[in-house]
Amino acid sequence: MIQKTKVNLGDRSYDIIIGENLIDNAGGYIKPFLNRAKTVIITDQNVAHHQLGRLEESLHNIDFTTIILPPGESTKSFAQAEDLLNQLLALKLERSDTIIAFGGGVIGDLVGFVASIYLRGIDFIQIPTTLLAQVDSSVGGKTGINSNFGKNLIGSFWQPRLVLIDVTTLDTLNIRQVIAGYAEVVKYGLIDDADFFKWLEDNGHDLISGSIEQQRSLRTEAILKSCTAKARVVGQDEKETGNRALLNLGHTFAHALEAENGYNDALYHGEAVAMGIILAFELSLKMGLCQQHDVERIKTHFKTINTKQISQFDFHVDHLLEHMKGDKKMSDGKLTFVVARAIGGAYLSNEVDMNDVRAVLNHSFKKGS
Ligand code: GLY
Repeated sequence: MIQKTKVNLGDRSYDIIIGENLIDNAGGYIKPFLNRAKTVIITDQNVAHHQLGRLEESLHNIDFTTIILPPGESTKSFAQAEDLLNQLLALKLERSDTIIAFGGGVIGDLVGFVASIYLRGIDFIQIPTTLLAQVDSSVGGKTGINSNFGKNLIGSFWQPRLVLIDVTTLDTLNIRQVIAGYAEVVKYGLIDDADFFKWLEDNGHDLISGSIEQQRSLRTEAILKSCTAKARVVGQDEKETGNRALLNLGHTFAHALEAENGYNDALYHGEAVAMGIILAFELSLKMGLCQQHDVERIKTHFKTINTKQISQFDFHVDHLLEHMKGDKKMSDGKLTFVVARAIGGAYLSNEVDMNDVRAVLNHSFKKGS
């Protein structure tokens, strides 16, 4: 069954369409957004290997060029953005044309950023192919590249015209990537939907490693729920002046863990988010906000679905605290944390005592305590 939800942003509103085998009909979904029958698909080598043929075959009567980039976080660079812009210029793409981001978060973020500055801004369509991109990064218009100073520090808010999510692209994703993306699904339950967290406790295992039919139908349900939650938040606070920051639950910790790890593949973003979420709830417990039972439920759930555990790493606490101070969410010298009174009861606080943050980190990591 095909599911649909929507980001409401006036004349920049767009649909998020979710279902099985949508890629095989992608041309039909994309055509209404093309001013002329010409587009450029931008993807990476891994996605090209597993899925590109399906997308290309669906583009009947559409003249297209495909640009295939190297996979991995290092593709989100100034050099790749410049090269991509030059390729689009060489293809004489016009301001009224639409390009397609076909891949995970790296491709979506880079292509969105390039779309936002090419000829002062052209349209783009997101066809996300990882769970993380399908439930989070392809929706909401955050685009960007990395710099030597940190991740996503250069970018723009640039909304796609359409998000087309085909859950069957997850069939060829390795299980570690699925589990990592799943952390962003759990996030929505923990922020403000305790019933959804309970549903994930009941169904998360089958969603990740049940039969192919179970996987696809449970993933569709979870993606719809996640995208609907995100669309609501983005519709109310597109530029993150308020509650959109709740979507950063666990991310201040996660970004510090990733930075200390040198952004290498020993720790995927989603894996760091799972750890960051646990740390955010441990901080909330330390602050007397939530209960031990809440923290235990979250830890148990992440363990059940086999995420990487904090105990597998031993980071230096002073270094982690230093990374946090470089976070782009710093305002007036203060960090805003997402803390929680309970599962489903998250809120923003810039009154967190950094001694509590240190104590929580000391509990998990021995170095620098
Ligand atoms: N990934 C968080 C947001 O889009 O706001």
